[in-house]
Amino acid sequence: MSKIVLLPGDGLGPEVMAEAVKVIGWFNSNFVTKLETSEGDIGGCSIDKHGVPLSDATLKKCREADAVLLAAVGGPKWDKVDYAIRPEAGLLKLRKELELFANLRPAKVFDALVDASTLKASVVKGLDILIVRELTGGVYFGEPRGIENLPNGERRGVNTQVYTTHEIHRVARVAFELARKRNNKVCSAEKANVMESGKLWREEVTALHAAEYKDVNLSHMYADNCAMQLLRNPAQFDVIVTDNLFGDILSDEAAMLTGSLGMLPSASLGAVKPDGKRAALYEPIHGSAPDIAGKNIANPLATILSVAMMFRYSFGMMKEAALLEQAVESVLAKGLRTADIMPTGDSAGCKKLSTSDMGAALLAELDALKPKMAARA
Ligand code: IPM
Ligand code: MG
Repeated sequence: MSKIVLLPGDGLGPEVMAEAVKVIGWFNSNFVTKLETSEGDIGGCSIDKHGVPLSDATLKKCREADAVLLAAVGGPKWDKVDYAIRPEAGLLKLRKELELFANLRPAKVFDALVDASTLKASVVKGLDILIVRELTGGVYFGEPRGIENLPNGERRGVNTQVYTTHEIHRVARVAFELARKRNNKVCSAEKANVMESGKLWREEVTALHAAEYKDVNLSHMYADNCAMQLLRNPAQFDVIVTDNLFGDILSDEAAMLTGSLGMLPSASLGAVKPDGKRAALYEPIHGSAPDIAGKNIANPLATILSVAMMFRYSFGMMKEAALLEQAVESVLAKGLRTADIMPTGDSAGCKKLSTSDMGAALLAELDALKPKMAARA
């Protein structure tokens, strides 16, 4: 029995989580593996209930689970709250406490959605990039940090970008290992031209590559150039490895190549422990989108695809992961769309679905695909 903690969070979080829960339930009824779920609070809803964005009780539950599935945190209601207890601080604390240093953000363009991208179909068709973002270091956590009042009446805001050798090596290692299972290419992005931490990043990635991963094709790019190249010729990339802040930015950009933030899942992984297990958090890369929350129009597919990543990386359920991804592709191929991925021009052949109808369509697709899969096995 594998234990999953569900953290629906804020905004559209509970709506998209509800659809992911149905998907988990479907696998429980149709496959041998049993997944046990329980819920916890994170973000704004936790601030309202417990006064903090991540309570010790929820953190403990997450530590004891085999995997955590989170939907989204934050919203205007908590905008004025102090940084230390903002909804986002709950997510950052969870990442840090579980030492989820490797954040995998795949940007894959589904054939059915090539026209949903704002870029030309010829540029994005078939695109399959994986961004490996360092998640527990860098400017997000570096000290000193804060806002201080200066004697002259001005204020001064400080954050610190800092990386050590082992932090760089462990995330680069994940990138190299994953590249070996893909197209064997890693591009490392930093600003070695202006930042010492970037220079160190480049040197350490180079050293690790020379020592252990010579078979992988490694290139380096300044992060600004990488942002530009992602739009100019994204197909040149396979795996991109980068720090916490650049990874935050580049992954939003890569997401838009695929048409919508509403399609992108992610996995945040810790080190593999001696018993073979690793702490893991799965979440869509989109935010809580307060503007569309509660309207039953959000796209649940990024959260559902995060479940597929959970199957693959936490539970070794490869067949189930593939089946779920296949169901998503089939639903899209049938022209079923939530609002965010409706074609902007001619929408002939496409049907706009609500969040819950998209969930239902997916379950129907799983039902239809299951016998085919059994026949193949
Ligand atoms: C992300 C988000 C978070 C981040 C926020 C919500 C703290 O943008 O996961 O990309 O900046 O890491
Ligand atoms: Mg982000």
